[in-house]
Amino acid sequence: MTDWVDVGAVDELQKRPLQHIRTGGLDIALTCVNGVFRALKNQCTHYGGPLAEGRLEGEILVCPWHGWGFDRNTGEMPRIGARAGCVATYAVRIENGRVLVSVDAATPQKPKNFPANPLARDPVRQAGPTRVLGISTTVTSSAPGRISGSRLILEKALAIVAAEGVETRQINLEDLKIEPCQGYYSISAHACTFPCTITNRDKTDQMALVYDALIHWADVIVIATPIRWGRASALYYRMVERLNAVQNQMTIADRNLILPHKTACHIIIGGQDNIQSVAGDLLGFWSELGFNHPPSAFVGHSRGWTAEDMESNVRDIVRSTDLVEETTDMIWRAAGLAEALLARPARV
Ligand code: FES
Repeated sequence: MTDWVDVGAVDELQKRPLQHIRTGGLDIALTCVNGVFRALKNQCTHYGGPLAEGRLEGEILVCPWHGWGFDRNTGEMPRIGARAGCVATYAVRIENGRVLVSVDAATPQKPKNFPANPLARDPVRQAGPTRVLGISTTVTSSAPGRISGSRLILEKALAIVAAEGVETRQINLEDLKIEPCQGYYSISAHACTFPCTITNRDKTDQMALVYDALIHWADVIVIATPIRWGRASALYYRMVERLNAVQNQMTIADRNLILPHKTACHIIIGGQDNIQSVAGDLLGFWSELGFNHPPSAFVGHSRGWTAEDMESNVRDIVRSTDLVEETTDMIWRAAGLAEALLARPARV
């Protein structure tokens, strides 16, 4: 026999097209369109978003977290189909001016059924030589005939350490299509997922290459940035904002995606000054993400605030052997620290 819960007066409930009802064991999104009530479980099949806080578009109830839309009559998601699962529906009847909702689902909740994104696997350090990942965050090189000082130093230093037997990889953010973070975290900590919602949704977005190299490949990362208005480059911050999804795993899932032996170091090149401020920003962020820093974890170069002869900047960088040498030494320090941490017996 069906148990029914009285959730309120028709006159009152029909004033609002969508509301959250939590009573008598029910936790539902109650909708009312043209006087017809429907009830769906208040839990999106995507990442559990609260449907009652979403919005109605005709017969479709749109989740507030990432915009999945469920038919309020069937609980199905017409746009994605059966792979999206189904939100449970509950029978509703009107009796003596009251709205009654069945406590037993009329159709069950079915979870989404997508193959797991390979990025979501637990990181495991595969055997092999030390792996150094350089990330260039400039856009300068993409302009015809232009040379980026930070990218040039990175490339030269990586070539030297590669010749000594470490594996190297370089990612140039300027060659990738990386969508800006859409700030799901500011809706709810649980709305910011890993892999990032954008990565899951947009197969043309290439942030996946950065996630994969940072989390599943590198032992050492070397971030190379120019100074723009006293800060790191705009592309650097675009990448960093998308890494909220990595840091957030510690908050919402007690899961650190950055293996504990990983290290980071930085190249900061500017025509004008503010190296230490940029360094502070970089050191703080990558530590927060879980990377260790060796002593003297950044190499900086600037010709100072009054150096307005900008045409001399690149010339100096191209000619400099000191910068390449200092950067190479820094990478070796970072590699040595990563190797020592990797060799350290695991804590029990
Ligand atoms: S769309 Fe509902 S949780 Fe993502």
